[in-house]
Amino acid sequence: MEAVKQHYERVELVDRIEKALENAGLGGRDLTLEELAPLDHFHSRGLEATKDLSQDLKVTSESKILDIGCGLGGPARYFAKNFGAHVTGIDLTQSFVEAANYLSARCGLSNLVKFDCGDALSLPYADASFDIAMTQHVAMNIQDRDSFYSEAHRVLKSGGQFALYDVITGEDGEVHFPVPWADGPATSFLLKENELKKILTEHKFEISRWIDRTALALEWFVRMQTQPNSRPPIGLNIVMGAEFGTRSANLAKSLKEGRAKVLEVVAYA
Ligand SMILES: C[S@@+](CC[C@H](N)C(=O)[O-])C[C@H]1O[C@@H](n2cnc3c(N)ncnc32)[C@H](O)[C@@H]1O
Repeated sequence: MEAVKQHYERVELVDRIEKALENAGLGGRDLTLEELAPLDHFHSRGLEATKDLSQDLKVTSESKILDIGCGLGGPARYFAKNFGAHVTGIDLTQSFVEAANYLSARCGLSNLVKFDCGDALSLPYADASFDIAMTQHVAMNIQDRDSFYSEAHRVLKSGGQFALYDVITGEDGEVHFPVPWADGPATSFLLKENELKKILTEHKFEISRWIDRTALALEWFVRMQTQPNSRPPIGLNIVMGAEFGTRSANLAKSLKEGRAKVLEVVAYA
């Protein structure tokens, strides 16, 4: 757990983000979710993937949503802005939580979204307190999947929806390290497709959507790599450093070689 935290934790992250936004001509005014998306959707296919995941979820302005491993909060803000839902995000990384709260204020969404620092394996919320829980590109860092899925199930109301967007292992060997979530196997815990299905079922989730998004993820990475002019002025390199490009390229290569896959899943609690 400490090693995962260290992987993401950054000093003076809010200051760094504020300066980067200024340098990109985005200082001193409210920001749109689209402007922020290259920075605050920390998963393959960015905002596009969050939009896909939201399709057909039963979200209304009455919904209480939990984003487990919320990162910088882009997905949480998407659900708040587009559905008027009340979203709570929780993340292990204190500096990400601070940045997430700062970015919500910059988008004028602090009234609908709040972020807590905490562990997905021991969620500080009462049983049955959320209508929807989501988690995107977090489980790869989680070895204790039993606690991860049982906590998600516990905090969901009966019949609530659990939306996942995850990297899983492919059939053709281990991923090329370093990847965006880990330097090596000590903090990377990918499941096989059948293992994910089994563990969700064991935790009493009823699967309603199971879509392989690998091809779309690959297309997206190729677009990012081959069209540098279309790259946005801000990106996750501001948070994760210059070597984020190498990490992303390794994930893209792993997807291409069948060493990893990307899945979109929705299940009922
Ligand atoms: C690749 S980022 C994804 C962030 C966000 N879900 C998104 O898609 O923009 C992975 C996140 O998982 C968080 N994380 C990893 N292990 C966690 C745990 N045990 N509890 C809570 N958050 C965790 C990390 O701090 C990091 O913010």
